[in-house]
Amino acid sequence: MAKIVFICMLVLLSLTGKSTAETRLSEEANILRKVENLDSEIEEEDDEVEFFEEPFWVSERGNKVLVNVDSFGAVGDGVADDTKAFVSAWNQACSTPKSVFLVPLGRRYLVNATRFRGPCADKLVIQIEGTIVAPDEPKSWDPKNPRVWLGFYNLSKVLFQGSGVIDGSGSKWWAASCKKNKSNALTIDSSSAVRVKGLTIQNSQQMHFVISRSDSVRVTGIKVSAPEDSPNTDGIHITESTNVLLQNCKIGTGDDCISIVNGSSYIKMKTIYCGPGHGISIGSLGKDNSVGIVTKVVLDTAFLHGTTNGLRIKTWQGGAGYVRAVRFQNVRVDDVSNPIIIDQFYCDSPTTCQNQTSAVEISEIMYQNISGTSKSQKAMKFACSDTVPCSHIVLYNINLESKDGTVETYCNSAVGFGYGYVQPSADCLNSSDKEKIIKQKSELDQTSQDYLIHSEL
Ligand SMILES: *[C@@H]1O[C@H](CO)[C@@H](O)[C@H](O)[C@H]1NC(C)=O
Ligand SMILES: *[C@@H]1O[C@H](CO)[C@@H](O)[C@H](O)[C@H]1NC(C)=O
Ligand SMILES: *[C@@H]1O[C@H](CO)[C@@H](O)[C@H](O)[C@H]1NC(C)=O
Ligand SMILES: *[C@@H]1O[C@H](CO)[C@@H](O)[C@H](O)[C@H]1NC(C)=O
Ligand SMILES: *[C@@H]1O[C@H](CO)[C@@H](O)[C@H](O)[C@H]1NC(C)=O
Ligand SMILES: *[C@@H]1O[C@H](CO)[C@@H](O)[C@H](O)[C@H]1NC(C)=O
Ligand SMILES: *[C@@H]1O[C@H](CO)[C@@H](O)[C@H](O)[C@H]1NC(C)=O
Repeated sequence: MAKIVFICMLVLLSLTGKSTAETRLSEEANILRKVENLDSEIEEEDDEVEFFEEPFWVSERGNKVLVNVDSFGAVGDGVADDTKAFVSAWNQACSTPKSVFLVPLGRRYLVNATRFRGPCADKLVIQIEGTIVAPDEPKSWDPKNPRVWLGFYNLSKVLFQGSGVIDGSGSKWWAASCKKNKSNALTIDSSSAVRVKGLTIQNSQQMHFVISRSDSVRVTGIKVSAPEDSPNTDGIHITESTNVLLQNCKIGTGDDCISIVNGSSYIKMKTIYCGPGHGISIGSLGKDNSVGIVTKVVLDTAFLHGTTNGLRIKTWQGGAGYVRAVRFQNVRVDDVSNPIIIDQFYCDSPTTCQNQTSAVEISEIMYQNISGTSKSQKAMKFACSDTVPCSHIVLYNINLESKDGTVETYCNSAVGFGYGYVQPSADCLNSSDKEKIIKQKSELDQTSQDYLIHSEL
């Protein structure tokens, strides 16, 4: 009797022991699968496309109401103040269904900092063909009305498009003291179902294009440019927004090409050209002990040229919150410093930052098919908090080289693994169960494939 009980206990012990280990492995494998399949969650359906399909505004059949800023007294010589004409035209367009707010081709319209508010009547199109310029003299800016130059608020189902230019005339500001309130060129705030196609945004005093507190925003084929030495001129900045798709964008500025900060999730970037600039960033997050949360981000297909960072996640010490479920894939870097970097010691203040124990937690980050040349020796850098380590960092098919000399991977408190071809080696991501996790994952992949095939039959 005693013997049977003993054997039973042994069996039980080994069973439970095995199943905990297996559970953990399949959890790991599932995380991997989840990050690999993020796209299916992020990709929006194309439901809004039909809504904006031709008739285009010029079409006779278009049945659109054209609201041309010129009809409201805009001069378009780049000198006269066209702010009032823009505001009047906006009020008209916004209150009229199916209207097209038109900034015509071949002219330059000088416009002060202005708020364009919704909600508007159905199917508004903002067609920018000409150039909108900001006053270039810092002293001609109203100090009460800073931060945003062209701000669009509270819009739903609107389309911004055209071959026009939004020019922030920022050059005199770049040299100005950082105590001055600089403004971001174009802001879309508290809006949903917004499409932006084809515009050029350049020379902003500060950030070029801010998407804040918005949902379902698609940006395609836009160009952003400012000189490499213009400070804080981020290209596209996403904050507190969800379901944002950036596609076919060419960005070259003096700061991050793209920055994604707190409160953002379901962000997809596809076919992005970046450089010059500071790279494509998640963060910074956690400044002044704040909470920062960013989840479900995918970058697929990017070319970075001569940037000071490549794919970056940056957080301040002392923060809270997390960055979770991010995949960077199919990226070519050319002469880029820090091609792959997680920096949990980010410190962009004039005084040195003290080490603190809390941190924004970083996990489930995958890098897949990343290649090219690194300007720094540490081609991959995972500088994670000692108290809040980075976890589930996965590298797959990485080939980073240096034009002169060898490259290496730096790790502090980072756990994960690399598989496939990984150069430089990422052995310092020291997960012990790599082989088992990969095996488990391919089994799960197979099972779900079998399942798909069978359920299709
Ligand atoms: C635009 O700014 C200039 C300089 O501050 C000011 O003189 C002008 O009145 C402003 N225009 C409007 C319509 O507020
Ligand atoms: C900056 O803007 C804030 C409001 O956003 C205002 O209180 C402050 O006075 C402005 N500072 C300067 C230097 O204009
Ligand atoms: C947006 O619209 C809502 C109501 O339609 C209003 O309460 C809110 O203040 C508006 N927000 C802005 C930034 O204009
Ligand atoms: C972070 O984003 C959340 C969600 O949008 C918001 O409630 C919170 O205030 C934000 N925190 C900071 C520090 O901006
Ligand atoms: C890897 O990325 C490059 C772009 O950097 C792309 O041309 C290539 O097709 C990708 N390879 C795979 C297997 O996806
Ligand atoms: C903070 O921690 C990092 C990582 O452990 C270490 O390299 C650095 O020297 C520390 N800095 C200070 C000021 O203690
Ligand atoms: C991996 O390194 C971390 C510190 O960087 C350490 O805490 C952990 O025990 C190591 N894990 C393995 C499996 O060696």
